[in-house]
Amino acid sequence: MNSKKRHTVTAALPYTNGPIHIGHLAGAYIPGDIYSRYLRLLERDIIFICGSDEHGAAIPIRAKKEGLSPKKIIDKYHNEIKKSFLDFGISFDNYSRTSAKIHHETASHFFSDLNKKNIFIEKTTDQLFDEKEIQFLADRFVIGTCPKCGHDEAFGDQCESCGSTLNATDLINPRSILSGNKPILKSTKHWFLPLNKYDSFLKKWFIIDKKETWKSNVFGQVKSWIDEGLKPRAITRDLDWGIPVPLKDAEGKVLYVWFDAPIGYISSTIEWAQKEKKDWKPYWQDPDTELVHFIGKDNIVFHCIIFPCILHASKNYILPKNVPANEFLNLEGRKISTSKNWAIWLNDYMEDFPNMQDSLRYVLTTNAPENKDNDFTWKDFQAKNNNELVAILGNFVNRVAVLTQKYFDGITPEISSFETTDLIILKEIYSYPKKIGNSIENFKFREAVNLMMELARTGNKYLADSEPWKLIKTKKKEKVNPIINISIQICSILAIVSEPFIPSCSKKLKIQFNVKNINWNDFSVERPLIPKKINKSDLIFRKIEDEEIDFQLKKLNESEK
Ligand code: 2FM
Ligand code: ZN
Repeated sequence: MNSKKRHTVTAALPYTNGPIHIGHLAGAYIPGDIYSRYLRLLERDIIFICGSDEHGAAIPIRAKKEGLSPKKIIDKYHNEIKKSFLDFGISFDNYSRTSAKIHHETASHFFSDLNKKNIFIEKTTDQLFDEKEIQFLADRFVIGTCPKCGHDEAFGDQCESCGSTLNATDLINPRSILSGNKPILKSTKHWFLPLNKYDSFLKKWFIIDKKETWKSNVFGQVKSWIDEGLKPRAITRDLDWGIPVPLKDAEGKVLYVWFDAPIGYISSTIEWAQKEKKDWKPYWQDPDTELVHFIGKDNIVFHCIIFPCILHASKNYILPKNVPANEFLNLEGRKISTSKNWAIWLNDYMEDFPNMQDSLRYVLTTNAPENKDNDFTWKDFQAKNNNELVAILGNFVNRVAVLTQKYFDGITPEISSFETTDLIILKEIYSYPKKIGNSIENFKFREAVNLMMELARTGNKYLADSEPWKLIKTKKKEKVNPIINISIQICSILAIVSEPFIPSCSKKLKIQFNVKNINWNDFSVERPLIPKKINKSDLIFRKIEDEEIDFQLKKLNESEK
């Protein structure tokens, strides 16, 4: 791991316009959590920051749909989402919200400061306007045909089919989502961030410095944006929901949600620092801090172009060291869709599979859409739970615990000297923490979790090959001692290296095998993990039956809109 002094890790602020689903978890939150937990196990100075994204057109639209006020909507989903993160062990150091006073102040300050520095351009342009609703139609208030791919339900800010970022006026055949009418063009003044002026900054920072180190999907997308030539981008909107533009001549205008949302990472850090009585500034301004943003691929441009330009123009801020964005997770071969209710909602999952958050975390990590879109199927979920978590990891630790109780009353047999064959296996098992750590540091979480399971598989094979249950009945009884001793060491290593991926399981293993919290790098063949005694076993994972999966498939198909 590099030698940076501290780490600021962020995960995309979710919109509070609905609950969150497995695609969100797989895209940003599980990878961010694995990375943060690992850094904590290295005893790094690290903060993992997030919060709810409560502005933008999506909120009043949802409010209208549910017949509630925007405030009621954000409160409802903020609490639901926060609970889901807690249920799934996403270990944020702070989870804030962009409706918080501290965020309004911070975002307004950023805008005013940049405005004072004459960074923005003020322009009066023609925007789409709904005559019936007497409202400008930006972003999600308008749909139409995507000029890039022809998809006929593209939003005014983004086409969900080809992923292009759009301006509402780019849409062919636009329609208001409020009245269904064709909007007219009406002139209005807005503040623009002249991205074109940051061309050479971006080329140097991004293209020259990042070539080999960033994920190719992220690098490719950003490079093509820069190569196409960047244009000024409006950072204010005519909307009655959001942070008012802090200027006298800007009545009825609010900051564009994508201007204020990433600043939410900073306000959430300030909120954390106030609670912890710490200084927030080093986490955003000291070059000895490594900033990493975990996001999904639809957020790349905002985190790799727009926000870095805002930070660069604001001066004194650090820029992200990496943005390991994931691709999308599909569900049963189809794109996850909130509007079509084709999703697995985290709150529903917890009701149907109580205490089984680690099973979903595990499967979503083994299946993470790291380099290409990937598919989640209920059958695969069942297979990975039953054949890997239960049959390999669960079975191994359980057998070790049962055998230790049976042969040694739970006391670890002491070994004065190991034989050569023992030393080979010891060397092998202690090589795993380093290998797993390397994969995590390189954002290869699938590889990392597979290595963890490979260690459990190695343990299982070792036990099966050495057959202590046969040896105990022979004259070579004392040969059982090193087998159980080494198996306990494997369980102890697993208790630690499983923590980033399946934290509840890791906690149970630590209790069962009496493993203390220890730095990820502080154990090895020379400094082994050998607890003196172990506690009674308890099954850590349970098998998932066919009926449970049939029920989920039926539920998914029946709830589709
Ligand atoms: O795509 C989304 O869900 C956005 N709410 C993500 C915002 S990330 C950050 F910039 F706040
Ligand atoms: Zn498109």
